[in-house]
Amino acid sequence: MREYYIAGNWKMHKTRAEAAELARALVGQLKDGKHKYLVAPSFTLLETVAAIVKGTNIRLGAQNAAAEEQGAHTGEVSVLQLKDLGVQTVILGHSERRHTYGEDDALINKKLKLALRHGLEVILCVGELLEEREAGRAEAVCETQTVKGLEGVAAGDLGRVVIAYEPVWAIGTGKTATPEDADAIHAYIRGVIGKLYGPEAAGKIIIQYGGSVKPENAAQLMAKENIDGALVGGAALKTETFVPIAKFS
Ligand code: 13P
Repeated sequence: MREYYIAGNWKMHKTRAEAAELARALVGQLKDGKHKYLVAPSFTLLETVAAIVKGTNIRLGAQNAAAEEQGAHTGEVSVLQLKDLGVQTVILGHSERRHTYGEDDALINKKLKLALRHGLEVILCVGELLEEREAGRAEAVCETQTVKGLEGVAAGDLGRVVIAYEPVWAIGTGKTATPEDADAIHAYIRGVIGKLYGPEAAGKIIIQYGGSVKPENAAQLMAKENIDGALVGGAALKTETFVPIAKFS
């Protein structure tokens, strides 16, 4: 059985004081939670949040990482620096990185392999644009992003990879994919993993859904066979909305 994995991507929100308040509240309210949890605050908040979630059932994630270990890379943050702060997981290939900041599959793959080499868990985001969905290309886009994102990743490292299917048209728009549509893409991605790594790996890999997940739709999404959790944006910024998602039943 795959465990449910609920992650909050805080994006570019919150000051240290606000982040500390949210992290403390989540630690209290999720301590009896039954699933796997993660929060991913901005780089500047990581040290503050690390001190609060350390030793709890909430993992610490970063929202990005550089493709290089160290060196002359102004404005970038290295996996070594992230690990030094207690980061356990890094989100890579988020659609905002792909489409606003021009990251391509080759760069994301380089980051992913570096993060895995340093023992981190990776959440690899994939997902189609609205025009790609309308052109009937959603599956092909997710397949390409999955295959290229995982190029050169050994089967033995796949246990530290989580896929997040985030249809770009559903992110921050209030439009959620129907549970049926999301499940169909999740099943497709699982099939892609099966082709690459075999049926056992396909059965084990956790595939989160992201895109306007809310307390009202979380349980229906999670009830689907191939949806193993959520990568939550806007609703992750408040306990009132994140805790009910995290404790869905
Ligand atoms: P929203 O939940 O705000 O749509 O964002 C989803 C997302 O991008 C999480 O990474």
